[in-house]
Amino acid sequence: MINIHRIGLTFTIVYYKIRYCINVIIQEQPSGGMRENMGKLIEIKDMSKIYNPGENEVKALDHVNLRIDTGEYVTIIGHSGSGKSTLMNMLGCLDVPTSGRYFLCGADVSEMTDDELSDIRNLEIGFIFQGFNLIQSLTAVENVELPLIYRGIGKRERHRLAVESLEKVGLSHRMDHKPSQMSGGQQQRVAIARAIAAAPPVILADEPTGNLDSSSTEEIIGILRSLHEDGRTVIIITHDNDIAEKADRVICIKDGKIVDDYMNADRQKEG
Ligand SMILES: Nc1ncnc2c1ncn2[C@@H]1O[C@H](COP(=O)(O)OP(=O)(O)OP(=O)(O)O)[C@@H](O)[C@H]1O
Ligand SMILES: [Mg+2]
Repeated sequence: MINIHRIGLTFTIVYYKIRYCINVIIQEQPSGGMRENMGKLIEIKDMSKIYNPGENEVKALDHVNLRIDTGEYVTIIGHSGSGKSTLMNMLGCLDVPTSGRYFLCGADVSEMTDDELSDIRNLEIGFIFQGFNLIQSLTAVENVELPLIYRGIGKRERHRLAVESLEKVGLSHRMDHKPSQMSGGQQQRVAIARAIAAAPPVILADEPTGNLDSSSTEEIIGILRSLHEDGRTVIIITHDNDIAEKADRVICIKDGKIVDDYMNADRQKEG
């Protein structure tokens, strides 16, 4: 009995500590050039990920050290197979490393329970996947409403949030269309609306413009930039130099290692 109470109490304390920490820091709305004053959101220490340990093993992440602060606008760039999605899965608590530590807002992710991790994924992080991951049989508004169910939000409020979110990405005229009735860029905007509907403080986007033409790419990047300007931490994974050039900070990954990490503004001054 006592144990159940202690576990419940520990869970509640850790959970509220993380939420409080993220919420307090996000209200500071940091802007470029203020990194030194911002809160530490993500800290990865000596992280490695080995798939299929043994003869055919693949070292997808190789002793990675990384810090990302609240309110940053970061791109992680690298060639195909360099370890970008593996890193995103770690950042989003979707997978566990083979070795190393991951601290989210100061809390050690490896010590969190499955419920705590699932709360972080549902409440704190908005995921945007390259393949859109929309449900084909549902309309745009139903797709955006879906994850809000897991947050326990009532039907009316879900609908209100989904409509508001689709309006933000310029899709108020496509609410009742199914994915097959929309262009790639529009589907990606639905995926963004779904990621931001519940206003998560962190946006993780894996190749959000991977299959889009240049004008849709610009639109999507514009939306992600405005989410950052609203105070969110935006992390974009890409292999596109043009996208990296427009971010505040660029982290380059090669063969599972971080080989460069710079602020675009500093590079422009130097160059
Ligand atoms: N589940 C898995 N099992 C075995 N190897 C894997 C697995 N997932 C990824 N890999 C390997 O790990 C390495 C990194 O993969 P990852 O998907 O992180 O690359 P990426 O940078 O996202 O590539 P892309 O730009 O093509 O999406 C690759 O060599 C890949 O083949
Ligand atoms: Mg990938």
